[in-house]
Amino acid sequence: MNRKVIPSLLALGVSLSLCFTPALAQDEVKIGFIVKKPEQAWFINEQDAATKLGQEKGFEVVRLAGEDGQQVLSAIDNLNSQGAQGFVICPPDVRLGPAIVNRAKQYGMKVVTVDDQFLGADGKPMADVPHLGMSGYKIGRQVGEAIAAEMKRRGWDPQEVAALRISNNELPTAKARTDGATDALLDAGFVKQNIFDAPQQNTDTSSAFAAASPVFSKNGRFEHWVIYALNEESVLGGVRASEQYGLSPEQVIGVGINGSGAAFAEFSRQKPTGFYGTVAVSSTMHGRQSADNLYTWITQDKKPPANTETTGTLMTRDNWQQVRADLGL
Ligand code: GLA
Repeated sequence: MNRKVIPSLLALGVSLSLCFTPALAQDEVKIGFIVKKPEQAWFINEQDAATKLGQEKGFEVVRLAGEDGQQVLSAIDNLNSQGAQGFVICPPDVRLGPAIVNRAKQYGMKVVTVDDQFLGADGKPMADVPHLGMSGYKIGRQVGEAIAAEMKRRGWDPQEVAALRISNNELPTAKARTDGATDALLDAGFVKQNIFDAPQQNTDTSSAFAAASPVFSKNGRFEHWVIYALNEESVLGGVRASEQYGLSPEQVIGVGINGSGAAFAEFSRQKPTGFYGTVAVSSTMHGRQSADNLYTWITQDKKPPANTETTGTLMTRDNWQQVRADLGL
């Protein structure tokens, strides 16, 4: 090639890149998806669904863990240094809301919450941060109704059944769910004094197991038990504790919430366990919709709805594969 052509081609390359770079940069949307429990199937599925949507629509999703306040703040710093315009978060503690919002504001990032809604300094939900989560009380009622129906089918006298309520009253959605289940059970004739609280420190199986074990040993007079909690991971902790205490699957009715891999694994066991069912909610939809809301906010400056409440479907050993398919899980 002639010597004169090379510099002019180079110059053309430079001017083309000058023309195109700003347009490209504008189109490049990058969002974070920060979750409190990155090892749980529910959250893995949410992040997967958001990532998939990003691939379809042409934006990037950075998956991050935020298991405590420090980790969340460094995740936000990390996102900023990568040029992200915002993030979806399920926080490890809802009272971190104001600190998280402050940090995001410093960087000009947009924030939406999924699953667990931020609480402000006044202890009320931070209504200015768009949220998508379960309708906790209604889904809790579905849990209580499913338990009551199964008790009836097994011919148990509601006066003589004990309930292990694995509670997490610090987390409003958890309290709404267990309150809903409790109310439905009381409506079905359950005895209030036979409901025993097992307060868990966290929202996982091991904290539920630790909380549940002493409740069984202190209340050995009951032959039949029902178990409920904010999610299926915690109900599974209760069921494992009941097995360790020596109760058989016929003596236990545990009903969870989520409909994630944790429940699928349990339903796939050869023999039924005390884990009777779970109210399944689409984590696929939670992940996609919250990411899509944020994407639309970033690209079209349309703020998402203040609060979106999702619903659930009872999933048992008998129908889990069908419900799983229906919910796109
Ligand atoms: C909370 C629970 C999760 C899941 C989500 C669903 O974050 O810890 O297991 O139930 O709510 O909204």
